[in-house]
Amino acid sequence: MKNIDPIPHSRPTLGAEEAKAAAETILSGQIAQGAMVGKFEKRFADFLGLQQAVAVNSGTSALHLALLALGTRPGDEVIVPDYVCTALLNAVHYTGATPVIADVGAADGNLDCQAALRLITPKTRAVIVPHMFGNPCAGITLFKEREIPVIEDCAQSVGAELAGSKVGTLGDLSIFSFYATKVMTCGEGGMVASNCQELTNAVADLCDYDNRDDYLPRYNYKMTDFQAAMGLVQLTRLPDFIHRRREIAHRYNAGLKDLPLRLPGAQPDQQPIYFRYVVQLANPETLLNHLRNHKISAARPVFKPFQLLTGTNAVTDHGASPQGLNNHGISGHRVPQVAASGTAMRTFAREPNRSPQDVVPCDRLPNACSVSLQLWHESLSLPIYPLLQDAEVDRVIAAIRDYYQKISDT
Ligand SMILES: Cc1ncc(COP(=O)(O)O)c(C=O)c1O
Repeated sequence: MKNIDPIPHSRPTLGAEEAKAAAETILSGQIAQGAMVGKFEKRFADFLGLQQAVAVNSGTSALHLALLALGTRPGDEVIVPDYVCTALLNAVHYTGATPVIADVGAADGNLDCQAALRLITPKTRAVIVPHMFGNPCAGITLFKEREIPVIEDCAQSVGAELAGSKVGTLGDLSIFSFYATKVMTCGEGGMVASNCQELTNAVADLCDYDNRDDYLPRYNYKMTDFQAAMGLVQLTRLPDFIHRRREIAHRYNAGLKDLPLRLPGAQPDQQPIYFRYVVQLANPETLLNHLRNHKISAARPVFKPFQLLTGTNAVTDHGASPQGLNNHGISGHRVPQVAASGTAMRTFAREPNRSPQDVVPCDRLPNACSVSLQLWHESLSLPIYPLLQDAEVDRVIAAIRDYYQKISDT
């Protein structure tokens, strides 16, 4: 075991082309936002087949500006899934609006859109629909009928398709992240895209504060030209990245299909890009440790569901079980509203004995976010990225098979 190389959980796919593009931009002297960003925005919009895209410095900034472009303000509610990274909660809090948390579907961890529909009130300003782990969220079209603005969160799914349509073209606005471990990367970065010019103009206006005739609180969320130079190269390589991710997923499927693990699946109209290869099993922590002993890094695909992070659910993360939710389960619920600075959130998070009135549940059906909790307890993300070699995939498969062999031997 000593001499084998570790297999990391994720790695960016960067090479000489990205290095050359970034170096040329740096040496040109134009490193802040300039023509390269404009070119990246145009190419990205063309890739999606949308009118306009606006580059920003992160996926979180993209979410924040998308919410502001829709007019989100204190007093509004924004529906978000429970099982996703905290960037969504942060972005909603930055606007002063109240996040309303909905459960997710067991099949793929995407927002349970039917559950989200039940949380709509006259205060609902928008719903944020992430396509989790590279798998398109099939229910996204349901919100159109209710005329609820949809922000499509494609941070994990650039290039995935639903019924022949690219993700990013199904909502009113879509956002992307180019963080280091995402499907394509500029180190950090993001994009907001839409066919509605009024919305993209609002985003473009808000992400740069300089040289304005009026005063409005604006943000310095700009992408730099050398990030855009990398992004342009990554965009041309994206089809190869996706092809390789699918090859690896098929290799895992073939190597693991007879084991007592639930493998990621997709409906015929979903074309996932396998940002993550998430398996479900009763005790992921033991498999994670077993893989670690084989120098393989696996991870929980979502650090913690919002209900555990915000304490809106009485269940603790220590030994909580989905069954345990029966006593305390809170359905879609509002997490406490905080000042735009986020100060209240920090205080709240440090307060172990927060009082129940800090949290205003909006719907007390038992077990309503239980799927999220169950997924959190049972999911494990295996290494998947274009640089992963077939021999490494086979090593992961062999280590998992060894784990189950040992279980059956005992
Ligand atoms: C679904 C989702 N949305 C938004 C973000 C935020 O992106 P960023 O890290 O670029 O701010 C992430 C980041 O992991 C994400 O997974």
